Amino acid sequence: FTPKRLAGRKVVITAGPTFEAIDPVRGITNSSSGKMGYAIATACVRAGAEVVLVSGPVMLPAPLGVRRVSVSSALQMRDAVFAALPGADVFIGVAAVADYRPVQAAEHKIKKSGASISIDLTPNPDILAEVAGGPNAPFCVGFAAESRDLDGYAEGKRRSKRLPLLVGNLVADGLGGDDNTVILYDDAGKHPLPRAAKPVIAERIVEHLASLLPAGAGQ
Ligand code: C5P
Repeated sequence: FTPKRLAGRKVVITAGPTFEAIDPVRGITNSSSGKMGYAIATACVRAGAEVVLVSGPVMLPAPLGVRRVSVSSALQMRDAVFAALPGADVFIGVAAVADYRPVQAAEHKIKKSGASISIDLTPNPDILAEVAGGPNAPFCVGFAAESRDLDGYAEGKRRSKRLPLLVGNLVADGLGGDDNTVILYDDAGKHPLPRAAKPVIAERIVEHLASLLPAGAGQ
């Protein structure tokens, strides 16, 4: 790993799940430990970048040298990302953002009765697609955790979200654990990485993205 590959670069990263409130004590969330996103943040700091980590609720300490902005919902995550974005060279979306949120959270705790109930859900914005499709978009990296047909879904997402780099993994290989098996997808094709601990995978991913990064001011 060439040290300081990201010196002078600003990187914004999302990590962890989002939590979409149903009422004051309940909500919809995704299962995400935040370990991969936090490992990527650490690897970016080690490579010399200025790092803003926009994090959903996780049980992890903020990595040294990272500015962490803690959020709960997808809408809060989007606001925090766009607030951090000016001047960013790279955006890495690692968060497991909830696809839907309740149309309106109940003000008070919903009481149970014998009747069945339903919750109206509305789609959340796709933060990564909005950043990648916006004006002056930074170099955008996405993640795709799939339970099957990884190549098909990963390439489809890379194209539809307009990402130069996407990191794919099978859910069974990485979710919640300390190790992961990932494949990198870019314009040149697919690059499988050997199974390794998440901090090792993170360094490989950062090394790869640094090699694809267009030369910027001060480089
Ligand atoms: O489409 P899918 O959710 O599988 O795409 C995953 C990628 O998109 C991840 O990089 C994730 O962080 C990002 N994403 C996002 N906002 C969403 C959904 C996904 O930034 N609402």
